[in-house]
Amino acid sequence: MAQETSRDVGPIVLLGPPGAGKGTQAKRIMEHYSVPQISTGDLLRYNVAQGTELGQAAKAVMARGELVSDDLVCTMVRERLKQPDCKRGYILDGFPRTAAQAGWLDALLDSKLFDNSRPTRAWPIVIRLDVDYNQLLLRITGRRSCPTCGRIYNVHFQPPRTDEACDSDGSKLVTRNDDRLEVIQPRLAAYQEQTRPVADYYQRTGRLVSVNGDLPVDDVTDQIYRVIEDHHA
Ligand code: AP5
Repeated sequence: MAQETSRDVGPIVLLGPPGAGKGTQAKRIMEHYSVPQISTGDLLRYNVAQGTELGQAAKAVMARGELVSDDLVCTMVRERLKQPDCKRGYILDGFPRTAAQAGWLDALLDSKLFDNSRPTRAWPIVIRLDVDYNQLLLRITGRRSCPTCGRIYNVHFQPPRTDEACDSDGSKLVTRNDDRLEVIQPRLAAYQEQTRPVADYYQRTGRLVSVNGDLPVDDVTDQIYRVIEDHHA
């Protein structure tokens, strides 16, 4: 499919448990439609690495696999959405993650809180990636990422050409701090308890589309493009 760079797209919300493939798919949507990926996990990890006030508040919470407070995350998202690159649309990866964040986002999109030059009133396209539990565990434990360009690999499913080195820039691949076995269970529990109600909320309001996230990466991407195209048809 040809790359789209002119029309408005989304906003797109990617929902799904840890390891479902949100980041992998968000990067593809970003390249295809030329709209930015806004990953709250990546933004928080950046703040932790930089030692900002936000990073200091989030660090221990993330290391335990729990969710960072709604106030901190919503403030961070609002600042990011004010950037001009969000004008044509954006992909929210890992947000909203609680019922409060979903309500906050609806209010934002209703322009009550949003003072950007393009206060989009479009409801988000909410896409949930459904993935089998055992597959999730393999994906999380096998994940490696490039600290330089952010490209995501998997030692089981998408290994780099050279052991532990990024295909794009040769950087040594790293394992995320919260992909340790003892942190995976709390992350999955946080999804069940706090994020499932978000999917229920979007389901009730007729906005949730589920795709089969168990399929190979290209097939999942094809399903997502179809959902986006159908939405805009
Ligand atoms: P975050 O960074 O959002 O992590 P997550 O939701 O746990 O999701 P992951 O990044 O683990 O997985 P993913 O779905 O992106 O999968 P990926 O594409 O990498 O959040 C981290 C922490 O930050 C949270 O625990 C919380 O503390 C905090 N936080 C973030 N947002 C927050 C919010 N809104 N509110 C409060 N706190 C927040 O793929 C995984 C692996 O599988 C990769 O190796 C990939 O190569 C492979 N893979 C992907 N797709 C496929 C496929 N189709 N087939 C085979 N392998 C595949």
